[in-house]
Amino acid sequence: MNDRYLRDIILNFMIAGKDTSAGTLSWFFYMLSKKPLVQHKLAREVDEVAGGNNNNNNNAVLDGTTGIVHDFIQGITDTTLDKMPYLHAALTETLRLYPAVPIDGRCSEADDILPDGTRVKKGDLVNYLAYSMGRMSYIWGDDAQDFRPERWLNDDGAFQPQSPFKFVAFHGGPRICLGRDFAYRQMKIIAVALLRYFRFQLGGHDNVTYKTMFTLHIHGGLYLCATPRPAP
Ligand code: HEM
Repeated sequence: MNDRYLRDIILNFMIAGKDTSAGTLSWFFYMLSKKPLVQHKLAREVDEVAGGNNNNNNNAVLDGTTGIVHDFIQGITDTTLDKMPYLHAALTETLRLYPAVPIDGRCSEADDILPDGTRVKKGDLVNYLAYSMGRMSYIWGDDAQDFRPERWLNDDGAFQPQSPFKFVAFHGGPRICLGRDFAYRQMKIIAVALLRYFRFQLGGHDNVTYKTMFTLHIHGGLYLCATPRPAP
């Protein structure tokens, strides 16, 4: 381990983690603006689990006169986040429909045969489209196009993970995303802090679409209107 090695690791984490997490949060708030009921359920989960973290004085928060927001965020721990399965489900559902890495692939090191019998020659490129796979009724059922966090929860409301070869947003196998848990934690902290104090609606046009890039950006950015959420 030397300075150069450490620098490269840090750079690698920043490149792999910044646009992916930020873009996913944008699609997440876009979906919440399109689905007010989901947004309402999330806000309720946040209030029930973390609502006691401060004294609920939202006006003081919005005046910026106190450290209430700071205290609220300081109170968000892993234990708090573990009690929010609906938030985990909603972020996962966002990544199913809007995978931050929409297309990914590998170059074959040797001649090979894929499980379905497809022959691959050494040097062939094999790509998979996470974006398309997340929308296929063959994989996700007839409601594949719908944003429905509930599909990830069992009857007791606990999160039910799927195989990484079905839910491919983080890749699968030995080179699966190293930062997955870190990404979820960061996105959850931001989401909890924002949902606790604000209600979001689309602030601009409704024809939101993606921009073709290495990661899945919202074309032209996302314009949202944030209004104070009444204290619970
Ligand atoms: C929503 C957020 C994220 C998504 C959707 C995501 C997705 C992915 C995908 C699809 C890959 C596989 C790329 C490939 O090998 O072709 C990957 C790899 C990787 N990710 Fe993430 N990522 C996210 C956040 C992060 C964060 C926050 C970090 C670090 C702080 C991170 C670190 C890495 C690293 C180091 C690899 C390479 C792993 C390896 O090749 O062994 N990722 N990620």
